[in-house]
Amino acid sequence: MSAPTGTGPQDPGQDPGRSPVPPFDLVLFGATGDLAGRKLFPALLHRDAEGVLPEGSRIHAAGRGHIDDDAFRRSLEPGLVNVGADRATLDRFLRKIDYFSVDFDDPASITGLAKALEGSDRTRAFYLSVAPGYFARACTLLGESGLATPQSRIVVEKPIGHDLASATEIMDAIGKVFTEKQTYRIDHYLGKETVQNLLVLRFANTLFGKLWSNADIDHVQITVAEEVGLESRAGYYEGAGALRDMVQNHLLQLLCLVAMEPPNTLGADAIRDEKLRVLKALRPIAAADVLSRTVRGQYRRGSVNGQPVKGYEDELGRESQIETFVAIKAEIDTWRWAGVPFYLRTGKRMAEKFSEIVITFRPVPHSIFASLGSDGELSPNRLIIRLQPDDGVKFITMAKIPGSGRLRLRETELDLRFGQAFIDRSPDAYERLLTDVLRGQQTLFMRRDEVEAAWAFIDPITAGWAERYPAPHRYAAGQNGPAQAIALIERDGRSWFEPQDLGRSEG
Ligand code: BG6
Repeated sequence: MSAPTGTGPQDPGQDPGRSPVPPFDLVLFGATGDLAGRKLFPALLHRDAEGVLPEGSRIHAAGRGHIDDDAFRRSLEPGLVNVGADRATLDRFLRKIDYFSVDFDDPASITGLAKALEGSDRTRAFYLSVAPGYFARACTLLGESGLATPQSRIVVEKPIGHDLASATEIMDAIGKVFTEKQTYRIDHYLGKETVQNLLVLRFANTLFGKLWSNADIDHVQITVAEEVGLESRAGYYEGAGALRDMVQNHLLQLLCLVAMEPPNTLGADAIRDEKLRVLKALRPIAAADVLSRTVRGQYRRGSVNGQPVKGYEDELGRESQIETFVAIKAEIDTWRWAGVPFYLRTGKRMAEKFSEIVITFRPVPHSIFASLGSDGELSPNRLIIRLQPDDGVKFITMAKIPGSGRLRLRETELDLRFGQAFIDRSPDAYERLLTDVLRGQQTLFMRRDEVEAAWAFIDPITAGWAERYPAPHRYAAGQNGPAQAIALIERDGRSWFEPQDLGRSEG
């Protein structure tokens, strides 16, 4: 079967992701929380509107508060307007939802939920959208009450612990009740369309497969820049910081997808085995290296998008040494990647929100255009994988500037924007992840050993920081981190590739 060709919008045909999932009971703990309201219920409504959630399926919302079904359903409505479902679709969705007040410390409080699940042979999934401190108690209660059947699934969100020891403890507690095959650890970056597309780009195209190593790649940059600041998450963020909040999971997962060897199938374990190998090959960053291979930053006041914004400590109301920005020079000790640095950076209150992977290729071995002087200067080829916003792929190549005069070269872009290339709406990460749980597909979820290996890379960095780098460098909100982040990469004779660098030479 051949794929559609041409450059116009493509109708991808019947999407198997749109076929209904098996009838289910989804129990959503933390249903009155921020994530549930902002992401989970809208994602479920989208899928219901597409006909993916079959009749007879139930969404059991659970929270600590006491509220009746109707009041809970009404409380969801304002958060669902952006989905754009018509009234009949919205009402049909809301009818699937009921609400139970559950306190993990009070076994009697689970009775109502237990009755609702009694006798059901539908797929059963428990989603813990609660702080990780509750994971163990929740699992114990589900085990002891008999609600956790051998077929049921548990879904947990990052952060899983704050270091390897605490992550192990939490995963042990979950593991007493649920097996690995029943456990779905979410890193929502894996649900993003372009992140999955990275696998397709790498393993469905001969071109990139052949070029994907230190023979042709000079270095890799992974940036996840955010405009938002603390966002009333002080309690969590002060205990985490950017390294634990973003690098341990999202950035390392992206690094794995760029660096992994081709898996032999699309199977969950085939892919996760290869990601694990990358995590284990990361060269440890010891205390002696933290000053040369990492940068910590914290935003002070400044302006983002022309709007004045407070500094981190002003938002927090006290002094803090937590980092809101991290840059790391990571190295992977394998034959494929020896000598190719992976520069990672992420931060809050940066100039603009964008997530991007930039692969910079080596220069041609000999330029026949050198005699043209500045007209013949060559920039390296770069592959830019834009995760958000405007997801797509650009390939920066050299081209001749049209004209009959002297030969002049310039960078130009092969530009594939998914929003233009495909007519389908790009679903939110949670839409895919929630239905993957219900279909029993674990590929896009982190396996226990991956989480452990990621912490094993992070822990020496936090220990090194405590010893040698206790205070983050400050940067003004609206800048892409402190000056030391620029120095980190410029010491190697390279520089960060910023979005405004695209089309620079066209101006
Ligand atoms: C979360 C982090 O995992 O990812 C947040 O806890 C961060 O601090 C968020 O803002 C970013 O996600 P996205 O999808 O907006 O890039």
